[in-house]
Amino acid sequence: MTDKANESHTATAAAGLRGVIVGASSVSDVVGDKGELIYQGYNIHDLAANSTFEEVAFLLWNKRLPTQAELEELMHALHDSYAAPKPIIDLLRQIPREADPIDVLRTAVSALEFYDPSARDISREVSLKTAIKLTARFPTLVAIADRLRRGLDPVEPLPNANIATNFLYMLKGERPSEHDARLFDICLVLHADHELNASTFTARVVAGTLADMYGAVTAAIAALSGPLHGGANTNVMKTLLEIGEVENVGSFVKQALVSKRKIMGFGHAVYKTEDPRATHLRRFSKEMGERAGDTKWYEMSRKLEEVMMREKGLYPNVDFFSASTYYMMGIPLDLYTPIFAISRITGWTAHVLEQYADNKLIRPRAEYVGQRNIPYVPIDQR
Ligand code: COA
Repeated sequence: MTDKANESHTATAAAGLRGVIVGASSVSDVVGDKGELIYQGYNIHDLAANSTFEEVAFLLWNKRLPTQAELEELMHALHDSYAAPKPIIDLLRQIPREADPIDVLRTAVSALEFYDPSARDISREVSLKTAIKLTARFPTLVAIADRLRRGLDPVEPLPNANIATNFLYMLKGERPSEHDARLFDICLVLHADHELNASTFTARVVAGTLADMYGAVTAAIAALSGPLHGGANTNVMKTLLEIGEVENVGSFVKQALVSKRKIMGFGHAVYKTEDPRATHLRRFSKEMGERAGDTKWYEMSRKLEEVMMREKGLYPNVDFFSASTYYMMGIPLDLYTPIFAISRITGWTAHVLEQYADNKLIRPRAEYVGQRNIPYVPIDQR
């Protein structure tokens, strides 16, 4: 029998694959020690200041920013796909009202495949169209599912509106202010991609088997839902509500750390300094609080940030200030993770396109820590 130490791969496991390079990608780069995030060559700060989410989607898929004509063409393609197929809306009506919206999204996306005759075509040309359809439909599915569980009728998509405006409109049944729509649009820009995070890696592993894009994205949503990944933003807001008042922050954190409880929205597997996305979201949390005349959640977040830095030397991540920002926009807590998915679908699909373009089945090895050569005992003698 071959011993793994004699085989050509590394015999010792890297816990959580930290620092292991498992493939090449141009979609995005996270420079952990500098706190930099790059999408296809562009710094996230430049994109947040100047780009729309749709421009960023084009960039991630095509490795360059669109011309005006290309952007308009993409906007039309997105508008054409905003509406969800009727059988999917019927399916959403059957789902228990208490179901978690991220699980509802996962189920609906998986089912969407049945109504797309070209789903199995993974050529770049068709996959790009699938990516556009998925990006257009995520907001529709999240908004419709939320309205149905609240006993409200679905609202038809807004023709000609961008994704941020359309989502907020379909969710609330009224057009958002220009301010809120642009702020939400930037939130989508900030969440669009993040190198090989857990859900993107999942999407690539599935795509690497040459399974189709719906399968890869369905699996990615499942990975995103966990509290250590995209599920953190909802838990941040639950924590803030649990703390209740700014003056409780210090004692809450002390107690949590003594009992080894993690404070959601802090720490990062790659960033060892400020997460550049948090810089924008901190500002948005303040801005939304001031506009609503209620800065309590922002102030509590700032206090939590200060105490966590002092006690653990940990910085807030993308999920921390997005929580109070969405809360002040009146968005239900359990939609924060689906909103992450509404943005990250662009990154997932960009990575799937990249994987298909130069595919190699992803099949690493495990460090075997079990026993060997145990004599087999027949069942009646055990
Ligand atoms: N609250 C309290 N302590 C934390 C912490 C947090 N949010 N994040 C990390 N730590 C502590 C761990 O308890 C551990 O301490 P110890 O060495 O005394 O045991 C140390 O920091 C290392 O933690 P670990 O989980 O191994 O770090 P990681 O780099 O592998 O993990 C995360 C990164 C994101 C999984 C982790 O920071 C975390 O769980 N954060 C909360 C969830 C979250 O916000 N996720 C969204 C990420 S964008």
